Amino acid sequence: MTSFYDARQYAPATERNRKFILEVLQRVLPPTGNILEIASGTGEHAVFFSTHLKPRQWFPSDPNPMLRESIAAWQKHSPSDNLHPPLNIDARESVWAVEKEGIEIAAIVNINMIHISPWSACLGLMAGAGRLLPQDGVLYLYGPYKLGEQTAPSNMAFDESLRFQNSEWGVRNLEDVVAAAEKEGLRFVEKVEMPANNLSVVFHKD
Ligand SMILES: C[S@@+](CC[C@H](N)C(=O)[O-])C[C@H]1O[C@@H](n2cnc3c(N)ncnc32)[C@H](O)[C@@H]1O
Repeated sequence: MTSFYDARQYAPATERNRKFILEVLQRVLPPTGNILEIASGTGEHAVFFSTHLKPRQWFPSDPNPMLRESIAAWQKHSPSDNLHPPLNIDARESVWAVEKEGIEIAAIVNINMIHISPWSACLGLMAGAGRLLPQDGVLYLYGPYKLGEQTAPSNMAFDESLRFQNSEWGVRNLEDVVAAAEKEGLRFVEKVEMPANNLSVVFHKD
């Protein structure tokens, strides 16, 4: 019997931001190697980036089983030979699935997670990047940030609405994120202004 169940989920923001993120990724990612995406969400980014970033290998992940189903469904719908099945990774874990499976990672990509998760997820992300990345390995972050007095008013309002939904969420101070990264041996390299008051933030492993 044919099944009409389709687990693909949709996050409209991915279609708006993916082209701009891709431009930065093409410039900052190593030209080859395994790229681990932490918090892949629906998987729409994973199918888009894997197609456009060959010959790099793309490893999506998410701790939410329904989202891993969505990633797998997107992968089935738009297969790409360099897109791997979704891994179950919660950034807070002390050992990630790629470590258990012995997969060497050249870069980590994390989009729109650290403001929509507890601060411990950001700390876990930095610890994982510090453990996994080789020297000069890349950690790429995308999302909204507080930048002291230069914080966009829309990001202050977004911060309030996030905290209203969950007191552990919130738009983070860029300097706190950089300090957390430095503690794990990750050097801040650059920030790139992106549409809708978001930033791309790039770190290298020392
Ligand atoms: C707003 S969504 C962003 C998803 C996707 N990157 C995007 O841009 O559409 C936040 C994601 O963070 C994931 N997430 C939350 N806490 C996490 C954690 N501790 N470790 C890894 N991922 C986490 C959620 O499951 C969800 O997929």
